[in-house]
Amino acid sequence: MYDFDSVYSRVGTSSTKWDRYVSRYHLEDVIALWVADMDFKCPPEVSEAIVHRAEHGIFGYTDPSDECLNAIISWEKRHHQIDVRKENIVLTTGVVYALYTLVEQLVKKEEKVMVMTPVYPPFFNTPASIEREVVYCPLILEPEVRIDLEKMERMLKEDASIKMLIFCNPHNPVGKSWTKDELEELLEITNRYDLIVVSDEIHADLVFEPLQHVSMLGVNEKFNQNVVLLGAPTKTFNLAGMKISYALIPNQDICSEFAKRAKASGLSSINIFGFEALSAAYTYGDQWLKECLAYIYDNMVWLKKFLNEQLPLCRYEVPESTYLAWVDFSAYEVPDNFAEILKFEGGVELQDGRGFKDSEGFQRINCACPRETLVKGMERVVDCMKKKNWLK
Ligand SMILES: Cc1ncc(COP(=O)(O)O)c(C=O)c1O
Repeated sequence: MYDFDSVYSRVGTSSTKWDRYVSRYHLEDVIALWVADMDFKCPPEVSEAIVHRAEHGIFGYTDPSDECLNAIISWEKRHHQIDVRKENIVLTTGVVYALYTLVEQLVKKEEKVMVMTPVYPPFFNTPASIEREVVYCPLILEPEVRIDLEKMERMLKEDASIKMLIFCNPHNPVGKSWTKDELEELLEITNRYDLIVVSDEIHADLVFEPLQHVSMLGVNEKFNQNVVLLGAPTKTFNLAGMKISYALIPNQDICSEFAKRAKASGLSSINIFGFEALSAAYTYGDQWLKECLAYIYDNMVWLKKFLNEQLPLCRYEVPESTYLAWVDFSAYEVPDNFAEILKFEGGVELQDGRGFKDSEGFQRINCACPRETLVKGMERVVDCMKKKNWLK
């Protein structure tokens, strides 16, 4: 049994989640439930592999080892039932780097990118930052999360300059794990309009049983030439600081050009510890992940019960995937700067939903932490709302 209950201080470790506001605003005591990393130690085999490598003491340039590529191939087969070939893998130092490069490569300046909101902000900020127009096809959220296929097809029919869909599978922040039928319907449409689908699957391993992740590359072989999959062990095993991820690109022309651009922009060599971490996690991490997911699921269920009792007007369902709870506080008529007030006056930091677009009143709560941290954080939310007289 792995230990997910122990609380470790991350203050003073250059942690984005715990240190960014502590030092900038001199906030000593803020419970951080925002940015998407975990407060758990990674599998011990990963730390051991890194220490072992560090002891060698020589950290020159690196090439992707066969061990690392085979670990990806084996993981994708074991966990997502897809067959990956070595020549279709390009290692990168982050999924957002890959997104940026793919947009630059595949979408001309006068062309457009489609995204489905609410969604992880770099999906729209990154293309916009390199002057690619972004068009929005919001998800249908009620009574359950669905892709608005009709709107999507209408948009594509009316505007031939839309060339790429950036899609979140499973979905951050709404926690939806897409079914094979849903993905197939989506791909039928994107294929009709010759769209490239970039499927960000960084949360793929965080699907709660009995559901199973369906890879965009596992829907139907006939679509795969137009699909690029972005994967990583970083969310799964809490390795974001290792800066290791990969693109799986069955289309050989797109793959070669992407690899060329990655190399030209400095990624000819990947961080030595990133390789080690990936290989160890994908080789030895299965049991850790199983237990970690069970722990997170229990946190999600605890949160549901807590909200039912303490903040019954909040709308929240335990998600199908991810460690991110997507909670609608709008019935409490909290002010626009609710997240700021919680942070500076309440001593707890949630992720303001507005950053994900189309999400007034929502907060994203990171549940990948020891129960004690989550309880403390949520109690602070309630205390702050009481003090401010926002509870009805
Ligand atoms: C959907 C999604 N993609 C990408 C990332 C970040 O990936 P990376 O750190 O590899 O750039 C995140 C982080 O939260 C995410 O939720």
